Amino acid sequence: MTSLLSSYVLQYPTGLTNPRMYSKTEMNSKSHPSRSTAQHKALSALTGRAAFGVEAEKEDKEDYEKQKPTLNSRARPRVVAVDPKNSKGPISEAVDHVEKLLVKLMYDSSRPQHYLSGNFAPVQIETPPTADLPVRGHIPECLNGQFMRVGPNSKFAPIAGYHWFDGDGMIHGMRIRNGKATYASRYVETSRLQQEEFFRSAKFLKMGDLKGLFGLLMIILQILRLRSFDISYGLGTSNTALTYHHGQLLALHEFDKPYVVKILENGDLQTIGMLDYEKRLGHSFTAHPKIDPFTGEMFTFGCSFKAPHVTYRVILRDGFMHEPVPITIPEHIMMHDFAITQSYAIFMDLPMYLRPAMIMKGKSVPYIFDGMKNARFGVLPRYAENELQIRWFELPSCFIFHNANAWEEGNEVVLITCRVQNPDLERLDGAMTGNAKKYISELYEMRFNMKTGLASQKKLSETAIKFPRINESYTGRKQRYVYGAIVDSLAKVTGIAKFDLHAEPEPGKDKIKVGGNVQGVFHLGAGRFGSEAIFVPREPGISSSEEDDGYLIFFAHDENSRKSQAIVIDARTMSAEPVAVVELPNRVPYGFHALFVTEEHIRGQAV
Ligand SMILES: [Fe+2]
Repeated sequence: MTSLLSSYVLQYPTGLTNPRMYSKTEMNSKSHPSRSTAQHKALSALTGRAAFGVEAEKEDKEDYEKQKPTLNSRARPRVVAVDPKNSKGPISEAVDHVEKLLVKLMYDSSRPQHYLSGNFAPVQIETPPTADLPVRGHIPECLNGQFMRVGPNSKFAPIAGYHWFDGDGMIHGMRIRNGKATYASRYVETSRLQQEEFFRSAKFLKMGDLKGLFGLLMIILQILRLRSFDISYGLGTSNTALTYHHGQLLALHEFDKPYVVKILENGDLQTIGMLDYEKRLGHSFTAHPKIDPFTGEMFTFGCSFKAPHVTYRVILRDGFMHEPVPITIPEHIMMHDFAITQSYAIFMDLPMYLRPAMIMKGKSVPYIFDGMKNARFGVLPRYAENELQIRWFELPSCFIFHNANAWEEGNEVVLITCRVQNPDLERLDGAMTGNAKKYISELYEMRFNMKTGLASQKKLSETAIKFPRINESYTGRKQRYVYGAIVDSLAKVTGIAKFDLHAEPEPGKDKIKVGGNVQGVFHLGAGRFGSEAIFVPREPGISSSEEDDGYLIFFAHDENSRKSQAIVIDARTMSAEPVAVVELPNRVPYGFHALFVTEEHIRGQAV
């Protein structure tokens, strides 16, 4: 069963089993003269190339010569048009019939679907730009631009199970210009979505299906279906996060490559295609790359099921992607985020292991957390050409979805993060109830001493904080304020908290409230829930103003009135009275990560 799942998941989420996906350009050693034997071995494991030494060098040189024109080109990377080809045939139809029978006989359709109900439920339609929305208060001038949040929104009803991570990515956008607001929502037209549109129904296996014998049989059906699918573009959902780099808005999913989405003048959103950085990107791309605000470089990584399991990349401000740097860890884990400082990149080898056999034990996700294994943090010079200089540090077991920031202080590298004590990905499965165990996600400061090799950590908050954000002018630099979403046991955001890292946490608290290092809390109120809040500075840059001189913007939903809003609050005062509230024409389901793109960047788009 394990091998069956592996053969399924290895086919498409990472691309690493497909030699074509790890391009020869990436493999050449001429541009990597210092590549070690260990790296050659690691890369050889990926490509299946057995040769080492002189022979390999010769092959590499020939490859390099073939690829030279691409290597020398520093033009903006082209966007790859995503045009999957599908076929319907007797096998496809037979699989459909068998699937229906399996679902009827084996799937418990009375099982609650928390993430398909209430405001977690997908909206049925996209919303074209709707202008002149009612605004209470005044939207500050610095918010001229586009605020967006992406999240899972299945276009076609799931055949059986559903996990919150399964839905197709839909971007909810609000264009703001001179105090006026326009709302639009659009799917990211991924290869996966295009193919389900072709078949006019849900066809791809969902995490929510992976339970027991039923899950195993669904995997087998999915393998049989592969002939009808086109997996050459990957099969991610682009439902996780957004970033803006080298003139392009990117929609991200950690098992796929970035999708380029254009923000139109009227606030509409149009999927343009996919980025493979001139075929230099042959692996998955985290949903949480980091952009240095001073250099304009983007730092990213991808996870894979095969050694070395992690690949680190640096992308210049003009979009040129540097050579891959393998980061070798013992086995495949879930690595959702990382961090950068001015000099380092920080990787997190946390004990969340892939265990496909868990499916047969009735678990809904093939990952298991081991609370007995230490958490490992790897600190690598951020322009390293190989992993020889990485320093690994250990701290007590934990999982981390998201980091707030990192920086250097003397000999220490400091990481501000949301440390999860008891990760349970099953809580994001459809059957989640109000009786779910308490979710412990606390703000932490972690320190890694590059001189002594010792690590330490300090708790900064009570539970539960997630989606930590900062003034991103300070990414990689020492800063003071962190804004985090306060979440309840049902994964709903009840408020936004502002933490002052210069203040000490107040002892004796049992929940997040003002005092100590909690400088302010914006409570949404009974029956109202929000989402990740983005800090938008009144003036961009570090020197022009105080770090917290700006606004927090986020979407919120009132479960009583079933209306959604965009809310702007003053980040400095965290006043209970919003600066502005925009009434949205349609419901915005709860989702994942948000982004604000300035007017200047919208006009500077290169797509
Ligand atoms: Fe995330």
